[in-house]
Amino acid sequence: MEQTFIMIKPDGVQRGLVRLPKLFSLYLLFTFTYYVSDCVKLTGFLVHCDYLRFSSCLKLITVDRAFAEKHYADLSAKPFFNGLVEYIVSGPVVAMVLEGKGVVTTGRKIIGATNPLESAPGTIRGDYAVDIGRNIIHRSDAVESARKEIALWFPEGIAEWQSNLHSWIY
Ligand code: PPS
Repeated sequence: MEQTFIMIKPDGVQRGLVRLPKLFSLYLLFTFTYYVSDCVKLTGFLVHCDYLRFSSCLKLITVDRAFAEKHYADLSAKPFFNGLVEYIVSGPVVAMVLEGKGVVTTGRKIIGATNPLESAPGTIRGDYAVDIGRNIIHRSDAVESARKEIALWFPEGIAEWQSNLHSWIY
């Protein structure tokens, strides 16, 4: 089973693509339901957590500049690096881990190209974004980068759980 790291960026959160009910427990329930069934569209992939320890695999978090620079360290030489870091620290993001067979590659396909204008309709960026600098969602680009990103964003670790669905449903 592969794991991938997904982050709904500040514009995705601020545009209300994440529903934020006033009660925190409802927030968790709604975001979980929303992401799995609608925004991330990764139905079939298990969010790697259990309901009692939800924050171990999905959390709303505002990161500081140092953290964002670490996350995007590989891009530090790019001309858009500063703007990208400012964008990520501009508000809360929703960070999560998804697990499943081929989830890294499939996650990339479902989320679409980096530039939303080059993302096909039906992909998340193709449907919800227009600007490369505001492309609403991040996904790991490879298994190895996913491992690093999960370790950075979830240093507390990921809760283990066993699905009780029949194996053929997966
Ligand atoms: S690159 O240039 O090949 O490294 O780009 P790519 O791997 O596709 O994207 C890496 C992350 O940089 C973001 N990006 C940009 N942000 C702002 N402006 C511009 N022009 C730009 N180009 C790329 C891109 O969204 C990727 O961030 P994440 O968070 O992974 O989506």
